[in-house]
Parts: sequence; C-alpha cells; structure tokens
Amino acid sequence: MNTIRYNKLIREMTKNARENDTPISGIFELTPLCNLDCKMCYVHLTDPTVRERMLSGDEWIGLMGQAIEHGMINALLTGGEAMTHPDFRKIYLYLIEQGVSVRVKTNGILLNGDAIELFVEYPPYVVDVSLYGCDGESYRAVTGHDAFQAVTANIRAAIVAGLHVRLMVTPSAYMLPWVDRVMDYAKTLGAEDVNVNAMLIEADPDTDRRMEDFGLSLEENARIYRKQRDMFPRTPRSQTEEEAEFMGEIPEDEPHILPSGLYCNAGRTTFAMNWDGTMGPCLDFPRDVICADVKRIGFESAWREVNQDVKNYVVPEECHTCSHNTKCHYCPTQHKSLAAQHRCVAASCDWRKLQADIAAEYRAKARQAP
Ligand SMILES: C[S@@+](CC[C@H](N)C(=O)[O-])C[C@H]1O[C@@H](n2cnc3c(N)ncnc32)[C@H](O)[C@@H]1O
Ligand code: SF4
Ligand code: SF4
Repeated sequence: MNTIRYNKLIREMTKNARENDTPISGIFELTPLCNLDCKMCYVHLTDPTVRERMLSGDEWIGLMGQAIEHGMINALLTGGEAMTHPDFRKIYLYLIEQGVSVRVKTNGILLNGDAIELFVEYPPYVVDVSLYGCDGESYRAVTGHDAFQAVTANIRAAIVAGLHVRLMVTPSAYMLPWVDRVMDYAKTLGAEDVNVNAMLIEADPDTDRRMEDFGLSLEENARIYRKQRDMFPRTPRSQTEEEAEFMGEIPEDEPHILPSGLYCNAGRTTFAMNWDGTMGPCLDFPRDVICADVKRIGFESAWREVNQDVKNYVVPEECHTCSHNTKCHYCPTQHKSLAAQHRCVAASCDWRKLQADIAAEYRAKARQAP
C-alpha cells in the first residue's frame, strides 16, 4: 500500500479508536541506554543500575501481547537506542509475527548489514534515522562520538536495499555551527523524507542535561524552521507538521483547546511505555502529571487510568484566551516543569506562537502560488 493511502487509513482508524478509547498505537522505550551520548538528549541515562531495572525481551513481549489484545496495531520501538536492547531482534520479530506495523527509531549505528537483512525480510513500516552531523567534527560535538561514516554508510545501504528510511534532524545549541550543513547534507542522502525537530523538550532531571545549555533562541529556532519549510515543503496543513501527523487536520478556525482534557491523541489512541515499565500518554510525558505502573496493575488498568487522566486534565487558564489557541494545543511535554501546576512555560509559548505565525505565512504563500 502506498504511503498516502496508508496515512488516510490510519487517520480513519485513529478517529474510530479515539471515539472508542482504543489504544491502537504503542510507543516502546526499550532502553534508556545508548551507544551515543547526545548532549541534548532528554532520556539517555548512564547510571549502571539501569541495566538491572530494564525489562527483558520476554517482559516486553508479555506487555506487547496485552497491548495487542486491547487493539494495538502500530508500534514504535525507540529508546535510548532501541537496537542496543539485547533482545531487540526477538521483540521486533514478535511484533511482525503478530501483524503489528512497526516503526523503528534509531541513531543508525546498528543499522548494519545484519539489521538491513532482517528488515528486508521482515519490513518495518519505516525506519527513522537521526542524523546528528555532516562530518566527524559535528558528530563528536553533538553525540560525543565520530559516528559520521558508520551512520551515513548504513543509511545509504538501507536506502539501496529498498527500506523506507526517513531522516530526523534535531537542531540544538551543540549542532548550531553546522545546522545548515546538516540539513543540506540530509537532503543529499535520498531518504523518503527529512524531518527537522522544531521543538526541543526539557531533559529528564536524572540526565543532568539542561535546556539552558542545549536550547536555541527564538531567532535561531525561527531561522531553522524557515529553512526547513523552504527545503522540505509539504502539502499545506492547518497546523504544524508534528500535530498534523499525530492528530490529522484540524479546521483552521477551531480552537485546539477543550473545556477539559488534552486535544491530541496521546492517551486517547496512543500510549507510551517507558523503559522501566511505566505507562504515560506519550514519550517523555511528565510523570508527575500522568503515569501508571503497568508491571503492577497490568496493561488494561494502566490504559484506563492514563486515558481517564488525559480526559480529565485541566489545561492552563491562559490557553482558553490565547490568541493562538486555534493553532496550538497545550502539550504538557512542552511545559514539563510547570505542567503539574497547570501552567505554561513562557519560552515554550513564545516559540509555539512564532512557529504558528511562520506556518500561517507559508500557507498563505502556498495559497497564492499558481
Ligand atoms: C531520544 S531519541 C531515541 C531514538 C534514537 N536513539 C535516536 O537518536 O533517534 C528520539 C529522537 O528524540 C530526539 N531528541 C533528543 N533529545 C531531544 C530533546 N531534548 N528534545 C527534542 N527531541 C530530542 C532525537 O534527536 C531523536 O530524533
Ligand atoms: S538522542 Fe538517541 S542517539 Fe542520542 S543519546 Fe539520546 S537516545 Fe542516544
Ligand atoms: S501558545 Fe501557550 S497559552 Fe497559547 S495555546 Fe499554546 S500552550 Fe496555550
């Protein structure tokens, strides 16, 4: 099936799932460990006790089996670096055998000949590869390792082998000197799509990484976002790319803020399992806002709890009167430190508003184009 038809089908299924509180999509953070050490990474942990607390392949398969019983048809395997999980292959094949559509998110280091062979024989829906530099120096500056040659050789080989490869670029203060070249280089690799991460999120406090160190200014964000829109134009959408992908199109004049509950599909059709067996509505969702212990209460109860908490979450007062609430929906992940208090992080709102204005400007231009 081609991508357009697949996406249309997914949207229809998502609409039904939302109406019926069915968890059709699961995100699995198989491990918080990684073979790189990106300086902006919100998840990567180096604490050696993590290994003892990580879930084994059989434990993941047990949880995934419960998710499938409750309607899961799509799974995203991520981390940390999911492909470093000792049972990655076993977990991956289990999902494929169950008929689940699998997306793998990776830094590309282990997307080697063996992995490509596996994916050619048992294809994932897509492999998302993060590109962290345009040469050895930039790779070292962002990730602590010169993995440039290895990663780009793997990306090229995966594309030649016919896999659906998408590239992800995450600009941060550490990538800033090279960010234009990274985007230019990404375009040359011939992947199906290049996605540029337009919103950095605060890191888990256990990582010791701070937004003050890795974040970008409003001006830097805006410049990069414009370059992204110029380089990788897409069908005009009624909101930002990330939201459209996640939620489907929303009419332009309709507020994305509900009287009660969160607008997006996190916790409505999608759940995320953290590396330690806790469930949240979405990856990196603040645990002090919504979190359920699947290992203790089982998948079904955890899903009910998360689903109910998402529906009951009260968005900040200021969102109801915000000039941009037809273009932005409140996302606790983007206001992590204040979300438990139902408040907004001002810097996050400033960027959301500017981003929405730039997106509107591009849509207007596209409408005028012959
Ligand atoms: C955490 S990584 C896990 C998968 C894999 N290790 C990788 O690098 O693609 C998932 C995505 O999150 C991005 N990311 C890392 N830190 C981030 C942050 N602070 N804010 C937003 N995205 C971030 C990464 O660049 C990557 O594209
Ligand atoms: S962003 Fe990905 S590759 Fe980088 S440290 Fe985090 S998990 Fe590892
Ligand atoms: S910009 Fe801030 S206040 Fe406005 S809708 Fe978005 S999160 Fe709410």
